[in-house]
Amino acid sequence: MDSNLGEVAKTNTVLLTGGTGYIGSHVAVELAMSGHSVVLLDNLSNSRASVVDRIAQITCKPVQFIRLDMLDYEGLCAVFEQYNFDGVIHLAGMKAVGESVEKPLEYYRNNVGATINLARCCCKYNVVNIVFSSSATVYGTNANMPLCEDNDTGCVNPYGWTKLMSEQILRDVARSRKDCNIALLRYFNPIGAHSSGLIGECPNDIPSNLAPYVLKVASGQLPYVRVFGNDYDTVDGTGVRDYIHVVDLAKGHINALDKLNTNCGLVTYNLGRGKGYSVLEVIAAFERACGRKIPYKFVQRRAGDIAICYASVDKAREQLGWQAQYDIDQMAIDGWKWQQYYVKNLFNE
Ligand SMILES: NC(=O)c1ccc[n+]([C@@H]2O[C@H](COP(=O)([O-])OP(=O)(O)OC[C@H]3O[C@@H](n4cnc5c(N)ncnc54)[C@H](O)[C@@H]3O)[C@@H](O)[C@H]2O)c1
Repeated sequence: MDSNLGEVAKTNTVLLTGGTGYIGSHVAVELAMSGHSVVLLDNLSNSRASVVDRIAQITCKPVQFIRLDMLDYEGLCAVFEQYNFDGVIHLAGMKAVGESVEKPLEYYRNNVGATINLARCCCKYNVVNIVFSSSATVYGTNANMPLCEDNDTGCVNPYGWTKLMSEQILRDVARSRKDCNIALLRYFNPIGAHSSGLIGECPNDIPSNLAPYVLKVASGQLPYVRVFGNDYDTVDGTGVRDYIHVVDLAKGHINALDKLNTNCGLVTYNLGRGKGYSVLEVIAAFERACGRKIPYKFVQRRAGDIAICYASVDKAREQLGWQAQYDIDQMAIDGWKWQQYYVKNLFNE
């Protein structure tokens, strides 16, 4: 275990797993800005240590970081020994749907294993408030829009199953421990970046998600965007998804933590915008943001893709007092700002 802390006094604080990742770095900023003390934990398998300094630059606060693989249960116990956590936000995990089909065992071992180890530590060290990063993918091919939290679940790939299994594990933990409060947050499609341009998503390879792919085309690293299908029953024939600014998503975690402090037991919330944008609308927003044409080509539909997917966000609005603020143009502007910083400063890091 590597830590930049040395000897640290026990303080009440929030453990953020996956804290150096795309969403984690934004949650870290919102936690710090809302007065929480935060400890980031990550094995850096899909993120960089340098983000810790950039989070500190944005927040003007020191950031505590521990490099640890969550599959190391003894190491995780040592972290819980060191701190007096009053809450845990669990984001660590592998997230590439296609890769999960090729390497299912790695995904189950890592994502489900990390959740079990974390839950064991929370039980052992009596940490009763847990926020978990689930995904809209747990709704499977459910086509009843908007998707509500009580809709049927079921998955079509191993990644999705790791989320649904982790949800079930945490649900059972909540059932067995009446003092436990757990928020299952089902994210829709986070895109964009912090308005400082200092943190954002940095996919290692060719991205499989639309927004990072569009950004690579906009910055000349890829020739054109492949648009999978233009004959769906939608505004322009291309698929419609619920994109949410990553900063809005990150803020939702603070509301969820506040909710847990009311001793709510297990709760489930969609975090989306409650509105869909088509692929062509997304490309157009990025063209406005970067001031250049973004070439695209229509290709075959992908197996398993549905025409339209968006969240019902009523429950989060009513019970968390949370609602997404930023529209697609802001997502594109901030995403483009980050892409320029990334290409200039981090590309070869
Ligand atoms: N980005 C999305 O579109 C999206 C949508 C729905 C849900 N989610 C979920 O949200 C979470 C965060 O996603 P993200 O986009 O920030 O991904 P990310 O890959 O940028 O962040 C995940 C972080 O977890 C770390 N990690 C993975 N396995 C670990 C382990 N065993 N021990 C310690 N650290 C480990 C990685 O190094 C990475 O920094 C993930 O669980 C993901 O499945 C993401």
